[in-house]
Amino acid sequence: MVPLEKADAQTSYDSRHHFKMARILPASAVLLLLIGVTCAQSPKGCYTGDETTVSAEASSDDMTNEDCAADCGAKGHAYSATGEGQYCTCMSEAEMQTLTLAPSVKCDSPCTGDLAQKCGGVDDNVTVWSTGQGTKRSLVEKLRRFLKEWHQMEESRR
Ligand SMILES: *[C@@H]1O[C@H](CO)[C@@H](O)[C@H](O)[C@H]1NC(C)=O
Repeated sequence: MVPLEKADAQTSYDSRHHFKMARILPASAVLLLLIGVTCAQSPKGCYTGDETTVSAEASSDDMTNEDCAADCGAKGHAYSATGEGQYCTCMSEAEMQTLTLAPSVKCDSPCTGDLAQKCGGVDDNVTVWSTGQGTKRSLVEKLRRFLKEWHQMEESRR
């Protein structure tokens, strides 16, 4: 048998706990939904880089910006860049910072896989896309930290 006041304390802990869970679970669900929505790939623009940053990793006679971004995203890179119509390069957030925004006329090479869109231009003019992975990683990290802090707060109240 549990002493009465102890049982009461337990009950009130449980109800507080359930109340918190009732709020924390929908909040997490909304956050996860946001992660899904904000982590889609998206065009960033035409940029000029130096040889080392934008050296081609893969070339294809069927290149599109979507394919390049999907490839780079699957490998966990934050950005992708296409050049000369056929090359695809993956970039980290830090590498992306070394590029400078260029007039869009510098990215005038039609993609080999879709002549209607541009895949960079000559030399180191590249069409940059965000793969969605960078945003995803930072949001997931935020969620993890939030849940950990919440858990520690709960533990310290017991
Ligand atoms: C970028 O494109 C322009 C012309 O479109 C070209 O003159 C230039 O050499 C290219 N490369 C760089 C690094 O600017």
